[in-house]
Amino acid sequence: MTEIPEHLLKRSRERRAASGVGGDDGGAATPATTTPATAASTTPAATAGPVERAAAPAPAGPPPAKPDSAVVAAYKSRRRIPFWAMVALAALPVWAFLYARAITQSPVQAAGPLGIGTEVYGGCASCHGADGGGGVGYQFSEGEVLKTFPHIEDQLRFVYFGSAEYNIAGVQIYGNPDREGGAHVTGVKGAMPAQGPTAGGSLTDAEILGVVCHERFDLGGADPTGAYADEYTEWCSEGSEIFADLEGGGQLATLHERFDGILPIGDVPVAGSAATS
Ligand code: HEC
Repeated sequence: MTEIPEHLLKRSRERRAASGVGGDDGGAATPATTTPATAASTTPAATAGPVERAAAPAPAGPPPAKPDSAVVAAYKSRRRIPFWAMVALAALPVWAFLYARAITQSPVQAAGPLGIGTEVYGGCASCHGADGGGGVGYQFSEGEVLKTFPHIEDQLRFVYFGSAEYNIAGVQIYGNPDREGGAHVTGVKGAMPAQGPTAGGSLTDAEILGVVCHERFDLGGADPTGAYADEYTEWCSEGSEIFADLEGGGQLATLHERFDGILPIGDVPVAGSAATS
């Protein structure tokens, strides 16, 4: 409710008359009804200036917006980055940390025959026990496996071929015939599945050496710095040349042709040897 000065109303009436809108009635009535009411609440001196400006014909509005160029339109209609991408990006440092740890640590853990053998043994644990305590298959711990196999070559051969091939070949005693407590004879306890690739197994020759080393040194209690130091260095240490040979594609069957002083493992089951042989 503001007072509209008389000269402005007059100007407005003249404009409307000029444009043919007419409306003299409304124009005349307006000041008669509004002016007295508003005059009481506002002081003409204070509002004359601003009101005059407000009531003046509005200047031409801003020019109509120019249509966007192709580049700007494409920018405005582009796909925004979805929220989940933010979450994924935030998790990136964590992922990078885990990845770096994985590639720097796993080779160390898996190095050498014992590292590989520990992993492979997961497939043997159901029958021989996670700690080698025995079950369906014989016990390895507390030196038991060393009693059966004074020579690692005989154990490698038996794990390679398994019970069935020994039975087919007619070989019953796969380990030490003079074993303390009696020789182990195939088929008495059950059937040991073949592990070697030419006998239907799924392990490589290097993996077989690894798991046999694990059974003897980690589970069986062979002392790598004492009575079994030579065997450890030659077969089961990280620097073992025999292990490197097998990893390079060499076969257990022909190992004695490349390394002096070892018992032939061969490509068929043969009877196990006594401790002194
Ligand atoms: C399905 C059960 C089973 C699985 C799996 C198994 N074994 Fe056996 N293992 C046996 C049985 C049964 C015997 C006894 C064989 C016999 O009496 O002819 C045996 C015997 C052995 C022996 C001779 C032990 C001794 O003192 O006479 C060795 C060594 C051996 N297993 C190693 C392994 C290795 C290494 C693996 C894994 C790669 C493995 N076994 C997986 C059941 C199993």
